[in-house]
Amino acid sequence: MAALGGGGRAAALLRRGPAAALVLGSAPRRYRYKEKWAATAPRIPSTRLALQNFDMNYSLQFKDTWPSIRVSLLSEQKYGALVNNFADVDRVTQELELLNAVDFVSEASQKAQGLQQDSVAEQAEREESASREAPSECQAVKRAETPPPLSAPITSNIKCYTFPRGDVTRFRPARPDTLGILNYYLMDAASLLPVLALNVQPDDFVLDLCAAPGGKTLAILQTGFCGHLAANDVTVSRTKRLHQILNSYVPKQIRETVCVTSWDGRNWGELEGGTFHKVLVDVPCTTDRHSVMEEDNNIFSRRRSKERQMLPMLQLQLLMAGILATKPGGEVVYSTCSLSQLQNEYVIERAIEIAETEFNISTHVEDLSHFRTLFQDTFSFSSDCRLGELVLPHLTANFGPMYFCKLRRV
Ligand SMILES: C[S@@+](CC[C@H](N)C(=O)[O-])C[C@H]1O[C@@H](n2cnc3c(N)ncnc32)[C@H](O)[C@@H]1O
Repeated sequence: MAALGGGGRAAALLRRGPAAALVLGSAPRRYRYKEKWAATAPRIPSTRLALQNFDMNYSLQFKDTWPSIRVSLLSEQKYGALVNNFADVDRVTQELELLNAVDFVSEASQKAQGLQQDSVAEQAEREESASREAPSECQAVKRAETPPPLSAPITSNIKCYTFPRGDVTRFRPARPDTLGILNYYLMDAASLLPVLALNVQPDDFVLDLCAAPGGKTLAILQTGFCGHLAANDVTVSRTKRLHQILNSYVPKQIRETVCVTSWDGRNWGELEGGTFHKVLVDVPCTTDRHSVMEEDNNIFSRRRSKERQMLPMLQLQLLMAGILATKPGGEVVYSTCSLSQLQNEYVIERAIEIAETEFNISTHVEDLSHFRTLFQDTFSFSSDCRLGELVLPHLTANFGPMYFCKLRRV
């Protein structure tokens, strides 16, 4: 202070922090705060920087709904309990049902069957009346109006329990069964939607390009369908965590069939192009909920600003690698846990364009709107996501954010 030669008023201003001296423009010129000289520039918490950034961008993107999404992001997140089919399933499902938790996947599957039956009955009625009125047009009606198989995406063996909307009860940590295998895995239940969208079929070759710590890899394994599963993540320490999860949840003989690697996923297409039926590209993103809640490992910290700015580019490169790794006719699911259009729809649009112009690969976006119908009791979906689907945090269903979009390689 003495070195600055501060008088009483200036000293008081500086005690209140250099920012105060800046705001009060009346401070004599020599006492004004100069950022490049200040050894003790105020450290703004990364969580605050994240919130400022989101306020600026998301208030434009979501308009009137942003305050409610914001308050949900800042409130306690809800979890789902992914049942481990390799443990004692009957016992664990019984325990979870006794707690009043509901398997939202089987609930949606029942809903899909009901809707399917209704639409088949409606179609039969339409066909009958068409054949009465103009028998020759009957076949055309049949072809044009065959309902899409609603239940197809959720005929997996995945079971995940959540507490009903508005119920904020928390699950106990998972416990090992008699064989030492953990009975369920706690995760944001919305993280399961990209895996359900992947719609793994028996004997599919599946690639999980950014797999660690491994929640979605574990969910993919629960289908019991993979002919081959490759789980990759560039970060070696996080790949170790993936190994730990596989060790705690999956029996040795199944675990050994999973090929775990630590490659830079951006190069995957060059290494094993056109090989997989299904590819999950769950990219690094601004992890919006984490960024407003935790200082630790926060992408909004000043030293990570370059990395943050480069995220959309990295996401695009990873999605491109995912597309190149897919067989013709195969499918890629892209997902993030961010609300940002720049990291979601824009990445999809750009990837479709580059695949077409630079690799002569046509892709098209699959319609996932039935997810909104089937899962609306559990999640709150955005109604104006241009491409793919977006789960919005909501106080009564505080999951997400989770964006997912499915591309089919034509
Ligand atoms: C959102 S996390 C994946 C979460 C994981 N799918 C799960 O469900 O547990 C993104 C991951 O991408 C990984 N990653 C970042 N850059 C990568 C790259 N170039 N190649 C492969 N993985 C990368 C990060 O290490 C991080 O683990």
